[in-house]
Amino acid sequence: MKYKELFAKKLVQACNGVVEYGDLIQRIEIPKHESLGDYAFPCFQLAKFEKMSPNKIAENLASDMNDPSFEKVEAVGPYVNVFLNKTTVASDVIHLVLSQEGKYGSSEIGEGGAVTIDLSSPNIAKPFSMGHLRSTVIGNALALLVEKVGYCPIRINHLGDWGTQFGKLITAYRKWGNEQKVREQTIKELLNLYILFHEKAELDPVLEDEGRKAFKELEQGDPEAVRLWDWFREESLKEFNRIYDLMGITFDSTNGEAFYNDKMQRVIEMLEEKNLLVESNGAMVVDLGEDTPPCLIKKKDGASLYATRDLAAAIYRYETYDFSQSLYVVGNEQSLHFKQLIEVLKKLGFDWADHMHHINFGMMLKDGKKMSTRKGKVVLLEEVLSEAIELAKENIEAKNPNLENKSVIAQQIGVGAVLFHDLKNDRRNDIDFSLEDMLRVEGETGPYVQYTHARACSILRKGNYQKGETIEELDEEAWSVVTKLRHFPNVVERAATEYDPSQIAKFVLELSRAFNKYYGQVRLLEENSSKQARLQLVSAVAIVLQEGLRLLGLHAPKEM
Ligand code: ARG
Repeated sequence: MKYKELFAKKLVQACNGVVEYGDLIQRIEIPKHESLGDYAFPCFQLAKFEKMSPNKIAENLASDMNDPSFEKVEAVGPYVNVFLNKTTVASDVIHLVLSQEGKYGSSEIGEGGAVTIDLSSPNIAKPFSMGHLRSTVIGNALALLVEKVGYCPIRINHLGDWGTQFGKLITAYRKWGNEQKVREQTIKELLNLYILFHEKAELDPVLEDEGRKAFKELEQGDPEAVRLWDWFREESLKEFNRIYDLMGITFDSTNGEAFYNDKMQRVIEMLEEKNLLVESNGAMVVDLGEDTPPCLIKKKDGASLYATRDLAAAIYRYETYDFSQSLYVVGNEQSLHFKQLIEVLKKLGFDWADHMHHINFGMMLKDGKKMSTRKGKVVLLEEVLSEAIELAKENIEAKNPNLENKSVIAQQIGVGAVLFHDLKNDRRNDIDFSLEDMLRVEGETGPYVQYTHARACSILRKGNYQKGETIEELDEEAWSVVTKLRHFPNVVERAATEYDPSQIAKFVLELSRAFNKYYGQVRLLEENSSKQARLQLVSAVAIVLQEGLRLLGLHAPKEM
């Protein structure tokens, strides 16, 4: 059913193999206008070989080419334009979708290779920020996408659970902490302690030394320090897990930074062996030339750093998973860190560092400004999700109060709205946070696509649709829907290879629009000879919408 390939093959035959298949297929274009057909081939390059004008070549090629899948082939100036046979193509596409169902669009490009995806990765004892939400949502969609094209995704939540800040936190807790309060509202309370520490440390610098000392104790395994740290970690994770459960996201590993505590010495030895470590103001760094600032490996007081742990983690991931790609879904602001990380690994002689990619993304803004944790401007993620679910619930009560499983569906819509809002734009752009926008049932939202899917399911129920042989008769108006369905596998492939879930989001929006237009033009349930064919198309649309939504991490309720 690969019509582009078919066209390329026919072109090779028509030009007697003067140009190779691989070369030809690259030049095939999709015309901007439907009136110019489904594919176009420009003949300029062939003109060099044939010593003939491109227009003449186009004419010759067009007259030499035919196939049952082509309705007509015509030369327009220097182009050969192909119009696909709508009946054949529609029945091929619909047949394929109905027989493959959720597998439609899947491929084996990845050949089973492992892709590690570093996603979410919040810092314990701190609120789960919008940045971590973005990382979670984008990372999960990428995992689903690479899986769809035949890789094996490994989701890693690289928790920020190590570093000097935990020395400060332990110190603060020892001085001013209250066990009861921490138990009840862990993150809020720990954040308060952390802020308090900084306020007091400004007046009394000795506190900083105490903090450093406490982190040393932690690094060296002092039981009391470890017990406190462990407790902070457990309680924080409980809070994070509530959010992950709401979103239906799980991880293959929650090895955070602390996991690498005993794996950093080896990295330092490797660096020493290659003479890469140099001293700079008492700290140890790796020099990265003129254009990149040096990578800090060890502080003056011997404490390890974020980058040191990431070096150990990268090596550990390679040795454990033998990845074919290693992705890090982390905000734009860490671009330098990942650049340094990859450069240091290359200096260590690890060629696989070429397969590490920083999947960067923009900020979530509120009223055009950055959301910050410190100044109380933070929008708590759990509150956002609950509010979205609440609004979805109100909507259902108003429009469809007899719906079964109301609360499950409200959750699917509310969470879906938040996820889709994040994924529909190019991830590198900043996005504006707006709960109302997210939940609109018209416009570019998750609920709009979910609603379209539910509408398709409802038509199938009303029309008493039965699976069966695909029937060919379809109305002219169906063609734009069929064309969208036909492109789905290409969209999946591009989205996966370009690490860009927004292409899937845009696709499901376009398919929804095309379908809703069709729904407005044609009486789908009218009893006539093509009713079954129409229902088959509706069923194919429902399948592809559901699969597209799934790839973004959204549910597709059958009724809403
Ligand atoms: N915990 C870090 C932060 O919140 C993100 C970690 C990203 N992953 C990594 N391997 N560095 O900024």
